[in-house]
Amino acid sequence: MSSAAPVPETLYDLVFHALDPLEAAERDIFLTRVERWYPDLLDGLTTLYGDAGADTALTLVEQAAHAYADRDPELRRLDLARTLDPSWVQDPSRIGYAAYTERFAGTLRGVEERIDYLRELGVTYLHLMPLLTPRPGDSDGGYAVADYRSVREDLGTMEDLEDLTAHLREAGISLVVDLVLNHVAAEHEWAARARAGEQRYRDYFLVYPDRTEPDAYEETLPEIFPDFAPGSFTWDEDMAGWVWTTFNSFQWDLNWRNPRVMEEFADIVLDLANRGVEVLRLDAIAFTIKRKGTDCQGQPEVHAVTAALRALTRIACPALDLKAEAIVAPTELLQYLGQGRYTGKVSDLAYHNSLMVQVWSMLATRDTTLAVEALQNLPVEPSTATWITYLRCHDDIGWAIDDGDAAAVGLSGFGHRAFLADWYCGAYPTSDARGLVFQHNPITGDRRIAGTAASLIGLEAAAEAWEGVTDDTPAHQAEDLWTWREERIHALRMAHALLYGWGGVPVLWSGDELAQPNDPNWDAEPGHEADCRWAGRPRLDDARVAERWNRSTVEGRVFTDLVRMARVRASLPQLEASVRTQVDDVDDPGVLLTHRDHPRGSFVGVYNVTPDWRSVSAARLAELGVMGATDVLTDTVPFGSTSLEGAGDGRVPVPPYAAWWLVRATD
Ligand code: GLC
Repeated sequence: MSSAAPVPETLYDLVFHALDPLEAAERDIFLTRVERWYPDLLDGLTTLYGDAGADTALTLVEQAAHAYADRDPELRRLDLARTLDPSWVQDPSRIGYAAYTERFAGTLRGVEERIDYLRELGVTYLHLMPLLTPRPGDSDGGYAVADYRSVREDLGTMEDLEDLTAHLREAGISLVVDLVLNHVAAEHEWAARARAGEQRYRDYFLVYPDRTEPDAYEETLPEIFPDFAPGSFTWDEDMAGWVWTTFNSFQWDLNWRNPRVMEEFADIVLDLANRGVEVLRLDAIAFTIKRKGTDCQGQPEVHAVTAALRALTRIACPALDLKAEAIVAPTELLQYLGQGRYTGKVSDLAYHNSLMVQVWSMLATRDTTLAVEALQNLPVEPSTATWITYLRCHDDIGWAIDDGDAAAVGLSGFGHRAFLADWYCGAYPTSDARGLVFQHNPITGDRRIAGTAASLIGLEAAAEAWEGVTDDTPAHQAEDLWTWREERIHALRMAHALLYGWGGVPVLWSGDELAQPNDPNWDAEPGHEADCRWAGRPRLDDARVAERWNRSTVEGRVFTDLVRMARVRASLPQLEASVRTQVDDVDDPGVLLTHRDHPRGSFVGVYNVTPDWRSVSAARLAELGVMGATDVLTDTVPFGSTSLEGAGDGRVPVPPYAAWWLVRATD
């Protein structure tokens, strides 16, 4: 505990009543946590609210005391377990899966019926997309929340949610849900009361009587949805003003400079935690604080918001972890995992957007040079941090290629981004990808891309072509089509192996485990017409689910490969997230070589990102201690008989799209 901020005496009086019904030992646990975390809470809140932060801290601790007293004993036991094992989320047995409830299983009850399916895939972390009551009609996939206290009617009830978290917990699966905290739906009660003229609620939002301020801000604000929601402000007649709306016009940004907003969200967070939610995904956290003359993303006080929420949850419900949804430039990413004064004090998890983009870049260019440059340049993450590694998620892919990285390897950042967009929407002449262009920004030239993993990687096209083969197809043509499909299956396996072999929590997007293609009817549902991200959010295909163990089908191949990967991963302490993945300098530009030095041994990943035979230096493998080691993914020694001498030219051949996990254990 820091001596700079002793817990004020008044705080004990404030929480006394809430804690009164508890046993003395339980009260002590709470007060000890307050003493441990109060300085962080106060620091976050005074950074945001100045002197008023001290009062807000007292209010939040009082809220925490009530939530703690109400917390289910089973969850309090989980708090204890997690406090004893704070790195639980870093364990290699953490495998993630993300889905829209209705598309994955119909309802929350339906999810319970899919628990065995998730367990087959080794899933221990389940992110269900926004499931609280959204506004009617287009709700940006549920990211325009109208009521944080109820579950979307068609999915179930809050009681169903509680039941589900209990069942998941029993199965060893942590439930992750979104905390949409940058904005609420224009239909939310706060917005309605603001429109009705209640000053308290007007102050929850950022409203300007004329264009002076909006124009000044917009000079440096990028547009997030230039196609369907240009600009960042929306005129509202009832408010008689321009309301800040970063995303869609129906998503009203909240004023996080107002301590009342913090108090409201503290209640929401504590409620969700007490329902058994174990990880909160801080949606669009980067946008919460605005500052003129900037892009209003990742302002320093954003981390004060997270620090306060984290201190609050550590006090009331430490089993809960926070995940930052910050899809930002590589150099800015690490702040969300804690740097400088916020080291170890903000989110536990964050998306490795940079790795995701580089995987697609390597696949398109069949070259690792840029990826090596970019990944080597990433600042060192704190050892408490955990990456979410993913091939794609429910969102589009923005080509976050850093101009400096591109220039360092002789590419133009702009040119390469344009190439990737062309490649993945299939416009590039030799591309077999079938992504859709999402939000073409004519000013910056950016074209983000949406689609499923199988469609982006060319497997949809290849599988379709192979299905068209008949007895009349000339043999050489059939053979080519067979090879093409095999190649795409191997490429997908390699990409997954790279992400599973990185450390952190690999998260699959629902349907990718069965190589599902884009949803061709993505625009059929009301409210989805303008948002082609829905192409990449298909319903789980039961016909494919039924074939998942059948290795003569594409879905069976992909599914069983992932099952195997998860099982092997869980047994490898070398993949614990606290250890950093290092990327080797480029040798054969078609091969990415990674290594992880864990006290329990080393892990070397060899990934051929091309459809050709490539090679890796035998001397380098020997240096890393894995020459002749078993590839634990296949339980075979790649080119096992190859000794240093036997390798002839000193190189070990690596087959097309091979992925090897070479492991050396230490006793
Ligand atoms: C996040 C979500 C995205 C949503 C946006 C606004 O980026 O991932 O789907 O559109 O926030 O809430």
